Amino acid sequence: MEWHPGSWRTRPAAQMPLYANADALLAAERALSQAAPIAPIGESEALKQRLAEAAAGKAFVLQGGDCAETFDPRTSEQIDTLAALFAAMAEPLGQSLGTPVVQIARVAGQFAKPRGITTEQRSGESLPVYRGDLINGLEFTPTARRADPARMVQGHAHALATKALLDQLSQPLFTSHEALLLPYEEPLVRRDAADGRHWSVSGHFLWVGDRTRQVDGAHVEFLRGIANPIGIKCGPTLEAEELLRLCDLLDPRQEPGRLTLVVRLGADRIEGQLPDWLRALRTAGRQPLLICDSMHGNTERGGPRKLRRTNVMLQETRAFFTIAEAEGFWPGGLHLEMTPEPVTECLGGRGPVSPDDLTDWRSACDPRLNGGQAIDFARDVAALAARAVAA
Ligand code: PEP
Ligand code: CO
Repeated sequence: MEWHPGSWRTRPAAQMPLYANADALLAAERALSQAAPIAPIGESEALKQRLAEAAAGKAFVLQGGDCAETFDPRTSEQIDTLAALFAAMAEPLGQSLGTPVVQIARVAGQFAKPRGITTEQRSGESLPVYRGDLINGLEFTPTARRADPARMVQGHAHALATKALLDQLSQPLFTSHEALLLPYEEPLVRRDAADGRHWSVSGHFLWVGDRTRQVDGAHVEFLRGIANPIGIKCGPTLEAEELLRLCDLLDPRQEPGRLTLVVRLGADRIEGQLPDWLRALRTAGRQPLLICDSMHGNTERGGPRKLRRTNVMLQETRAFFTIAEAEGFWPGGLHLEMTPEPVTECLGGRGPVSPDDLTDWRSACDPRLNGGQAIDFARDVAALAARAVAA
């Protein structure tokens, strides 16, 4: 079937909200189709070239930021602090690997979240779950939790304002988000008149989440036709054969820099599964960029909140380096949830040591490393990377 920006509509779309007001949805989509680009095509093209270098072992990728951005306006100071955190982490990593570090933030559009449940119960009341500020509100009220299409237009304005602040930085910090809410993504596709290719201007790098990467699903169909660099979140339920089908669908011509696999297996599963994936890729003659998300496979549930520990994250990252090297792949980068704010959401590093110490929680979704934990983590990874490079 031929691709067009709306061809995803014929496919089953997981994680999509139900909008009660069809006219309001249409109005929002119309407004977005006329809206200014957040990520200019030329910049996304430049990122793709840098990711091609990373896939070839000549650069390392640092991708990170909030699990869920909110509509709280960003100040220029916040963006400067985020850029400073990236720089502080890139320094030891670049030093030990001897490569430049490509910096991609989960920013200026990371507003929509896939969820494992559809409703949330609190003291006898049941409401739709929070799906990110692009869809509904975090507050536990019927009004806030209703999916409101006008939020898509607000989200675009917030992302545009954040991008204007990113443009003031002295270093390039690319934007990225999960391409989850397709009625938002579709109208933000633009056709390049020069060569007819379609690009998303909602962000430089878009990824498909572990919950929406169905081979026959709407999200894969959408991403298939845009020319941006894209990622696939690869979790434990992904079979090697399915991975190859996704690669064929999303990167049929094996274009350098096009495809990044974001490995998020978990410390207890990576040794059992990553070697199989890499062997399958090698047999198929594919060498996509591999980066390690050591957060999403190591989330502990059970207590009142999700929990993550940096020592477990480091264990998965160490295995990622060892396995990639053994199978002849470049361990191309890290994908982290982090904030320069002094939050206490994860355990380890110079952060809290006991779950009882997680008193300053601000995340709208998953727990993030704070600035100190993120820098400690980058140093620890730099140390193990140095050993891998020397080996
Ligand atoms: C995320 O990156 O916040 C996320 C939901 O990840 P995954 O799709 O890997 O679970
Ligand atoms: Co997350």
